[in-house]
Amino acid sequence: MSQVDAVLAQVDADFDNALARLFEVLRMRSISTDPEFTAETRACAEWHARDLASIGFDASVRDTPGHPIVVAHDHAAEGTKVLFYGHYDVQPVDPLELWDTDPFEPSLVTRPDGSRQIVARGAADDKGQLMTFVEACRAWKSVTGSLPLGVTVLLEGEEESGGVNLPGFLEANTDELQADVALICDTNMWDADTPAITTSLRGLCGEEIVIHASDRDLHSGFYGSAAANPNHILARIIADLRDETGRITLPGFYDGVPDLPEALRESWAKLDFSEDAFLGEVGLSVPAGEKGRSVLEQTWSRPTCEVNGMGGGYQGAGFKTVIPAMASAKISFRLVFDQDPHKIRAAFRDFVQARIPADCRVEFIEHGAGRAIAFDVGAPPFQQTQEALTEEWGKPAAFIGGGGSIPVATLIKDRLGMDVVMAGFGLSDDRIHSPNEKYDLRSFHKGIRSWVRILAKLAVPSSA
Ligand code: BES
Repeated sequence: MSQVDAVLAQVDADFDNALARLFEVLRMRSISTDPEFTAETRACAEWHARDLASIGFDASVRDTPGHPIVVAHDHAAEGTKVLFYGHYDVQPVDPLELWDTDPFEPSLVTRPDGSRQIVARGAADDKGQLMTFVEACRAWKSVTGSLPLGVTVLLEGEEESGGVNLPGFLEANTDELQADVALICDTNMWDADTPAITTSLRGLCGEEIVIHASDRDLHSGFYGSAAANPNHILARIIADLRDETGRITLPGFYDGVPDLPEALRESWAKLDFSEDAFLGEVGLSVPAGEKGRSVLEQTWSRPTCEVNGMGGGYQGAGFKTVIPAMASAKISFRLVFDQDPHKIRAAFRDFVQARIPADCRVEFIEHGAGRAIAFDVGAPPFQQTQEALTEEWGKPAAFIGGGGSIPVATLIKDRLGMDVVMAGFGLSDDRIHSPNEKYDLRSFHKGIRSWVRILAKLAVPSSA
């Protein structure tokens, strides 16, 4: 039996224990955004540090002005070093009444087809995913006494609440975190049977605007049409942001956005993707983005602008004839290729300001900025990871784009100068951030087995 096969056999033999350990972490209410859970969030960091130490890592809980960061090293092996990133914090659970079970009492649910799901907050995002990597390390250590390569594990506790302390931490610990390649397990498979490496993610520029008009709410009969209505001003701004072809109208918005490179077009064309099924699954049928672009392009390689929330005026029961004093919106731009989030924020602010009447004013509140990221999959770690995934799943791993954002990937690339291989085992129906979040038991099991194989491949010098 080869060494890898022996380690895989250990994963299978120890799987019930791996699941029990995952259940332990899932019981911890590490909701980073809510101060009520600060102590439990820390307890979760301490659990991970203890767990990693029990496998032989040199693990520590590092304080930040916010929630702690766990760093653990095992550099006994010569040669390749990897940096694995995961996050141990989770999203809040509301609306609680929509959960079928207690979000922090994990359960195994069997579907009609016999497959099983782990249901709990954080099951997929990101506790289940990060534990696939840790369990793979545990199995290596238990069979061979060592890891096949040097590993640093970095676990953040603020990913779901802004991640404000991570950039400073990376900056201050550049040498300690240095590795040949970074690995992240916070992404999805292509479908339930096809593993995937996500090779690009969109960036993000988040902005909130509050438009202030009259100094109090007004009677809309007494004042209607004479007094500026901030809801109308906001509606016009939002409508003006896109033209009739779906393009964003901000001056300079498409600077740094090339047409889809031919190699990507070809690689995506090979993916078995149905626009009807993609939209049909969420009850829609008409692609709403830029005309003439495929849905994959719209979500992976084109920038966009979405209104994530808006409010103003009376929204209670019945009807109230009022002109509100203020209206507000939260707007995010997803960015691609070389778009500069700071330039886009400035262009957006000018665009809004130009539409505010002289007797009104607008307040701008910044909500984060990060550039898009993309990797050249020709580099050896991507190829080695693809081979490992293909062996485990018996189906070629797909190179896919991603419409979401993982700001730490950009930070690792820009500040630590590393490629980031994003291999995850989530599925599009995992309901992350929503009630009844789940992670397929198969994702957890084969995810662990996948990392066993990936670590073995990455350990072989890249010229191989
Ligand atoms: N893990 C997700 C993003 C993701 C999921 C990327 C699946 C690719 C495939 C991540 O936790 C997330 O939701 N990120 C936020 C980032 C934002 C709050 C800065 C997002 O994309 O909205």
